[in-house]
Amino acid sequence: MRTPAELAAAAQANLEPAHGDFFAGGAGQERTVRGNEAAFEARRIVPRVLRGVGERDLRTTLLGTEMSMPLLLSPTAFHRLAHPSGEEGTAGAAAAEGVVMVVSMAATQPIERIAATGAALWFQLYPQPDAEFEKHVVGRAEKAGCRALVVTVDSPVYGRRERDLRNGFTDLPPGLACENMRDADGRPRDIAMDPALTWNVVGRLRALTGLPIVLKGVLHPADARIAADRVDAILVSNHGGRQLDGTIATLDALPAVVAAVEGRIPVLLDGGVRRGTDILTALALGADAVGIGRPVVWALAAGGPAGVRDLLAHLRGDLDHVLALAGAKRPADLTADLIV
Ligand code: FNR
Repeated sequence: MRTPAELAAAAQANLEPAHGDFFAGGAGQERTVRGNEAAFEARRIVPRVLRGVGERDLRTTLLGTEMSMPLLLSPTAFHRLAHPSGEEGTAGAAAAEGVVMVVSMAATQPIERIAATGAALWFQLYPQPDAEFEKHVVGRAEKAGCRALVVTVDSPVYGRRERDLRNGFTDLPPGLACENMRDADGRPRDIAMDPALTWNVVGRLRALTGLPIVLKGVLHPADARIAADRVDAILVSNHGGRQLDGTIATLDALPAVVAAVEGRIPVLLDGGVRRGTDILTALALGADAVGIGRPVVWALAAGGPAGVRDLLAHLRGDLDHVLALAGAKRPADLTADLIV
């Protein structure tokens, strides 16, 4: 079984350089990309001993969705650039491992086909200025069986990703398209970022769907406090450093967000999670689950669906192992005093 780092190295060899750059890159100087991982590197675990950790259980339930461990696949675009099996391949692996996949609005396969794998899916939405079109997209995701709507709010405008600018990577190659960005008669649409968005978007989406709403991209505790009154969960995220470069690392943002939310709604985190110890650290500091972005794309590019299964099995084994060594039987046993 290959480690996440080995899968990442193998992936680069299989990808066209411009596509590898698209997946790896971030905005500006990529300070935030590096900072997310560095924040985990800077933490140390202070384990407990003699706690009877013989029977461990990683399972959890979030927003009514059962998961085999507190890990989800964060939404990432363009899986068919990584491997011909695309999002369907990723979803098949997620189904086999009992992990939730958040399907990107920029997926390169139709949501109905991804859902046919039987995976537990949540759907990621960039709110669209065209209300009719937004309704159509949300309705399609709901009908396909998606169980939550993950609304990305860190993107009033598109991040300036210098690697893509340098490579001239602006469009998908011929034959690939964002298959969920089609209107009712099948015509392709571009994903629009809407800089005019306000908190009113939550009410607008509530009127469209009964699905739980997760707000993705919250970093400031004041926003977390507002969100706790209006949505069903928040995902502390800086888009893996692809939007505003120079933002706080998500792990550093987490404690204040958790304090602001006061247990009213679940708090999730993504950005820089690479190993079992990272998952443990985020859970101990108050996250209810964590998401992974790039590791999934690397695993898919390195080994297709089997690569993604390898990654998830590795992370499960790793988390189980470090949980035992830290003196915890289940994720809920982890507390902030275990981390310095
Ligand atoms: C993303 N991310 C993202 N987020 C989102 O809301 N919609 C999207 O379509 C995408 N697409 C996307 C593509 C690629 C290639 C990457 C790397 C990321 C952000 C993603 O959901 C997540 O927040 C970060 O990837 C988490 O950081 P790590 O795990 O990549 O460090």
